[in-house]
Amino acid sequence: MAATPPIERIPTFVEGLDRKMEGGIPKGAVVVIEGGAGCMKSTLAYSMLHFNALRSERPGMYITIEQPANEIEAQMTHIGMDRRAVPGLSDRLSFLDLGQVRSVIAQLGENEEEADWLASILGQVKLHIASHPTDLLVLDSLNGVFALQRDNEVRLPLFHFVTELKALGLTSILIHEVATNQAGGESAAGFLADGIIRVERKRVDESVALLLSVTKMRKTAHEHGYYPFIIRHGKLEVVAK
Ligand SMILES: Nc1ncnc2c1ncn2[C@@H]1O[C@H](COP(=O)(O)OP(=O)(O)OP(=O)(O)O)[C@@H](O)[C@H]1O
Ligand SMILES: [Mg+2]
Repeated sequence: MAATPPIERIPTFVEGLDRKMEGGIPKGAVVVIEGGAGCMKSTLAYSMLHFNALRSERPGMYITIEQPANEIEAQMTHIGMDRRAVPGLSDRLSFLDLGQVRSVIAQLGENEEEADWLASILGQVKLHIASHPTDLLVLDSLNGVFALQRDNEVRLPLFHFVTELKALGLTSILIHEVATNQAGGESAAGFLADGIIRVERKRVDESVALLLSVTKMRKTAHEHGYYPFIIRHGKLEVVAK
């Protein structure tokens, strides 16, 4: 019997995290980063793209819907992840600002009420990767899409979206802001995704800690702890036991 080939993995490059998940996210997976407002969801997603482009030469694209791309970029530069500081890095790390997705829909002559926003975004992704070869994709955020698309109609378009991302050979990170009291994975996105990384804040005495947990990762024997994480020297790090 032929041996099963090993699963290729994409490291998160979060210090201390990859060894808790067999080296990273299975290539080709669709992973949701879920958590409350300001819990560093965008920072976590961007840092995966940044360090994969920097250390492994894996090209990535960061799609913004709600927050303008230049704001995200300025924030990441401030933290120490400056794609312009490394020659050639910007060629492997591009932003796609879909804040104007509404005008795209209008250009297509579609009715906003009935438009399939995820299908429109996918069209933009295909256009983009035709000129920018891409391994990793971040969508920031699903909420930006759900705000436009009526909630009860999201599951089927989301299923098609996830299927198409995989067919394109991308490894994808979908950001989903959820209320802090919402249990992990209890959303259409959580059910459809191959993996969920959850970020939460927790009050510790007089301060607040951010915690990260891999709550689901298909094809992966991962640990199940909640680990405090911080930014140190421009890089995310889980400070785990
Ligand atoms: N230079 C920095 N060093 C450490 N922490 C920072 C720095 N800049 C911002 N932060 C922290 O990161 C948080 C924002 O991170 P980020 O934008 O990634 O979160 P988010 O979960 O995507 O937020 P949102 O809900 O607004 O999308 C800030 O609220 C702040 O606590
Ligand atoms: Mg964000």
